[in-house]
Amino acid sequence: MANRMILNETSYFGAGSISEIVTEAKKRAFKKALVVTDPDLIKFNVAKNVTDLLEEAGLAYDIFSQVKANPTVKVVKAGIEAFKAADADYLIAIGGGSSMDTAKAIGIIINNPEYADVTSLEGAIDTKNPSVPIIAVPTTAGTAAEVTINYVITDEEKKRKFVCVDPHDIPVVAVIDAKMMSSMPKGLTASTGMDALTHAIEGYTTLGAWELTDMMHLKAIEIISRSLRKAVENDPQGREDMALGQYIAGMGFSNVGLGVVHGMAHPLGAFYDTPHGIANAVLLPYVMEYNAEYTGEKFKYIAEAMGVDTTGMSQAEYRAAAVNAVKQLSKDVGIPEKLHEIGVKEEDLQALSESAFADVCTGGNPRPCTVESILGIYKTAF
Ligand SMILES: NC(=O)c1ccc[n+]([C@@H]2O[C@H](COP(=O)([O-])OP(=O)(O)OC[C@H]3O[C@@H](n4cnc5c(N)ncnc54)[C@H](O)[C@@H]3O)[C@@H](O)[C@H]2O)c1
Ligand SMILES: [Fe+2]
Repeated sequence: MANRMILNETSYFGAGSISEIVTEAKKRAFKKALVVTDPDLIKFNVAKNVTDLLEEAGLAYDIFSQVKANPTVKVVKAGIEAFKAADADYLIAIGGGSSMDTAKAIGIIINNPEYADVTSLEGAIDTKNPSVPIIAVPTTAGTAAEVTINYVITDEEKKRKFVCVDPHDIPVVAVIDAKMMSSMPKGLTASTGMDALTHAIEGYTTLGAWELTDMMHLKAIEIISRSLRKAVENDPQGREDMALGQYIAGMGFSNVGLGVVHGMAHPLGAFYDTPHGIANAVLLPYVMEYNAEYTGEKFKYIAEAMGVDTTGMSQAEYRAAAVNAVKQLSKDVGIPEKLHEIGVKEEDLQALSESAFADVCTGGNPRPCTVESILGIYKTAF
């Protein structure tokens, strides 16, 4: 079996790196951009950092700013119309996972119109043509959607969040500029950062993991666990490190998959519009406990990457230490411990479990899952 690795064509890192968007757009002879973003990023002048550069350089663009968190089929369809109306030839996604995922769905459907219903893109789909070129500029340090081959859309009618996996959607250029993240409030920094930690831990323990991605995930766990608390305090170095750490996690998990934390988090987004990072952060330690016996020595290396000295620890001890390190970090950045605190309803747990079992991410979990075992985890976390 061949292990496959797909990454951006070009990525830029560091404060001020958004200026490279102009260089890239000119070099690639792009004519007009559709900027895909959300209303808050317009309101707080975050997207303006990029559109000002485009204007200075005389590069044409239109803005589509109707993206909502947990973006829906309806939002994607509106974005497709906006792209056509703008007569654009590339996309600039500015935002968190929601804006970047919306841009990916727009870019794929413009070049593969047979998927115009959007929902038929669920799962691993062999589209014929690459997406319209995307330049992705993350404004959260979490999803790493700028480097992944995935996007997640909500089917509002069926109350389902579905994951699309397609190498054709990867942005050609990613610009990871921590300055674009500095306006994030504490709670958003914490929850998106815990999403990144979840990517790193699930990517490290997923069934498809191998040495190259292990290297990325362990490094990501180390960077994220030493810098998330500082980023929440808006420390510039903490922000810089989180921007990099979340990207490294994305390089890994995009190529090997995730696990049942994400499988169980997606239905929470669909049922209650729960922010993705919060759903993951609450569920992560409970799933780690469920998976522990199926992870060999991996929790030892997770604990060490999180700063725990595991010398002399038994297997049970280092496994508990890894879970505790995650719980402590989550607590320190203000994440609630239980699902009932974030609006989950007990009467929905059965339906949530069925939806989580059907999620694309669940198949990658190191310990096999059934609807019943997932229900058990939800109940413990409730
Ligand atoms: N494609 C992937 O590989 C992948 C991976 C994980 C998650 N996701 C998806 O990404 C979505 C979540 O994305 P997210 O967590 O990045 O958040 P988001 O894009 O949903 O944004 C959440 C809120 O934060 C605000 N915000 C974003 N950046 C800000 C900034 N710099 N300053 C102030 N406010 C800011 C936005 O305006 C929005 O109101 C979910 O739908 C999730 O399923 C995708
Ligand atoms: Fe995620």
